[in-house]
Amino acid sequence: MKILAIESSCDETSAAVVEGRIVLSNIIATQIAEHRIYGGVVPEIASRRHTEAISHVCDEALKQAGITYSDIDAVAVTFAPGLIGALLVGVNFAKGLALSLGVPLIPVHHLRSHIAANYIAHPDLEPPFLCLLVSGGNTVLAEVTDYTSFKIIGGTRDDAAGECFDKTARCLGLEYPGGVTLDKIATVADFKKYPLPYPKSGGGEYDFSFSGLKTAVINTVHNARQKGEEIDIPVLCATIRERVCDMLIDNTFKAAESLRYKKIAVAGGVSANSELRCRMDTECKKRGFELFYPPLKYCGDNAAMVGAQAIFEYESGNMAGTELNATATLPIDYR
Ligand code: KG4
Repeated sequence: MKILAIESSCDETSAAVVEGRIVLSNIIATQIAEHRIYGGVVPEIASRRHTEAISHVCDEALKQAGITYSDIDAVAVTFAPGLIGALLVGVNFAKGLALSLGVPLIPVHHLRSHIAANYIAHPDLEPPFLCLLVSGGNTVLAEVTDYTSFKIIGGTRDDAAGECFDKTARCLGLEYPGGVTLDKIATVADFKKYPLPYPKSGGGEYDFSFSGLKTAVINTVHNARQKGEEIDIPVLCATIRERVCDMLIDNTFKAAESLRYKKIAVAGGVSANSELRCRMDTECKKRGFELFYPPLKYCGDNAAMVGAQAIFEYESGNMAGTELNATATLPIDYR
């Protein structure tokens, strides 16, 4: 079954042709350069750029897959969560396309598709497994009990991990997207120089909290500026990254051990973080867990992962008609 998948939840317009776990094409038109001027995503600009790019991106996805619109068996689209105006562009385009081709329309939850990026890279990966989902807008620890069945056991009580990276990076004057730049710059490990707090959530057993760390970094930078002191940016970045990774890794292993999971997956944009990947690798080997994470090209937003999840949604009967609407917030375990 050949699925044309469409993604437009934030600042990448993407279309892919996917057959099961095989990606026949994956086209991404990124808006990063334009949003960089503003230090973050401007929703109105994002929607406009999606509108301009979407039909070209779909045409190119079909061309690279070596097929035409008449070869498509279904259209899949990210419908939630994300920027509402941005999502609406993809949803409306997908609705029109599915209707005109007379093929099923499959709505896909954005976080479910981030998890499915792992299915592309690891053809043998099957639920159940525990997943740490870390992106710019979400930080969730979820049990993936089946391909379309999820149980949230922890989540952030304030900022997402990616947001913490992006906001602290912006405060340090680093280029957007801050998480990527911070990861590259964080080369010097001297964790005593900046005594940043270890984030504590005070909530559920597996919950996260990153806003205290973010505030501590902002205060550190402001204090130094007021005193005319220079900030050691590589050291501060390494300390921020270490604190964020500590919290993500501690909670993940606490949950995996007490819930007796053998397999752990990491997904979402922050799964590209070099320290997170390296430490998860080491810890999993030491503690006897099997670890899965997507290759770097599938960590950020892309339509291939939407197509990879779509087949499971289709098989479980999750299809939509022209009534489908975009939704800005929706938990991964929605029914
Ligand atoms: O999953 P994603 O592409 O978009 C959302 O669905 O949110 O995630 C984007 C987030 C941004 O916060 C970005 O700074 C972060 O992922 N990110 C990273 C790295 N690469 C991307 N954060 C830390 N280290 C990285 N290497």
